[in-house]
Amino acid sequence: MKNLFFILPALFLISCQKETKKESLYPEKTVSAEEKQLELGREIFDGKGMCYSCHKPDQKVIGPSIVEIAKIYKEKNGDIKLFLKEKSEPIVDPSQYSVMKTNFAITKTFSDEELKAVEAYFYSHLKNEK
Ligand code: HEC
Repeated sequence: MKNLFFILPALFLISCQKETKKESLYPEKTVSAEEKQLELGREIFDGKGMCYSCHKPDQKVIGPSIVEIAKIYKEKNGDIKLFLKEKSEPIVDPSQYSVMKTNFAITKTFSDEELKAVEAYFYSHLKNEK
């Protein structure tokens, strides 16, 4: 019977420890979900989307840079997902639109999740700016 006085506080301590551990796991989870999305966006950009062949992070090549596109879309409150579905007009460089248009055959096959990931990938380049 005397043992209970030792066991109970010990149990209490153990359960408290578990609580705090659980809580500290939550922030990690949110970060990794965001990272996963960016990873998917990067994968599409460098992989099946082949966007890299015309878009570089911060330098214009055939198409405008990712930073330039993200900046203009943020400023003008545009929707990259709609653009890639061919449901909104070009706002970055309309004079070169016909070159970008050839990609809609690919981008229209992207799922909503993939489109969101590509969009997040574009915007992630803004955070790196000073
Ligand atoms: C063959 C070259 C080429 C490829 C490949 C390409 N783009 Fe583009 N992209 C362009 C050019 C040129 C423009 C500028 C014309 C324009 O603004 O529509 C552009 C513009 C854009 C814009 C801005 C549209 C606007 O509102 O003006 C977005 C967003 C974009 N591209 C995303 C992508 C994504 C995502 C991919 C990969 C799935 C991709 N591009 C692949 C050439 C390309």
